[in-house]
Amino acid sequence: MVVTVDRIAQWKQTGKPVQPLAVLTAWDVISGQIVDQAGADIVLVGDSLAMVALGYDTTLPLSLEEMLICAKAVRRGVKKALLVVDLPFLSYQPSRVEAIHAAGRVLKETGAQAVKLEGGHGAVVERVQDLVQWGIPVMGHVGLTPQSVNQLGGFRQQGQSAAAADRILTEAQALEQAGAFAIVLEHIPAELAGTITKALKIPTIGIGAGIHCDGQVLVTADVLGLSVWQPPFAKVYAQLRQQAIAAAQQFCGEVRAGQFPN
Ligand code: KIV
Repeated sequence: MVVTVDRIAQWKQTGKPVQPLAVLTAWDVISGQIVDQAGADIVLVGDSLAMVALGYDTTLPLSLEEMLICAKAVRRGVKKALLVVDLPFLSYQPSRVEAIHAAGRVLKETGAQAVKLEGGHGAVVERVQDLVQWGIPVMGHVGLTPQSVNQLGGFRQQGQSAAAADRILTEAQALEQAGAFAIVLEHIPAELAGTITKALKIPTIGIGAGIHCDGQVLVTADVLGLSVWQPPFAKVYAQLRQQAIAAAQQFCGEVRAGQFPN
């Protein structure tokens, strides 16, 4: 069955017990095909692709144009899952008009069904309201928001003090009120994620946020063991980087030895 925004938004309002949502990232057609065929409910073209696929040190340098190219490629590989695309840093922050243009381009040019943007303070909540009002579904993202890495002082766990935890809960509630259909909770204590999950009607999707969320997301390059480094909360399910290097080495060796083609 094809996954829709509406189905995700209603995920935990059916009154019946529901399975947690499985969400994976993708950055090109092959990764899109892999996670879609694996049965992910949502495929996220996360701006982590800035680091995973384009080799930047953070997500900040990623442009909207680069994101559009990657998202179009992922779209060609995803047939069933809901496709959500991150709005890159500074494509939505400067003004309401820029946010609508950036999100509109993502939907029009890539065929994605929704966008994700980071943060839960006043201006972001206003952007979410605007986009939803114009028919653009939005996924929120609070806790560790990598686009604010310089302000957060690194990729550290957020929400450790009572005041910080309260702020993240308030942000999540404001995003729900603004019309977000789901929300990512990144790198916050499991207990806080549980409190937010109970307080919201829309599903929470955790990454490094413990077991109490309504779904879980990981960066696919980490899951497959393709990335050089993985965050402490990631689980590596395969060692494809090592296998790929070994396969490529075997090819080089066989060519040099005159064994391929034979
Ligand atoms: O950019 C990304 O891949 C993300 C996920 C880690 C949630 O935002």
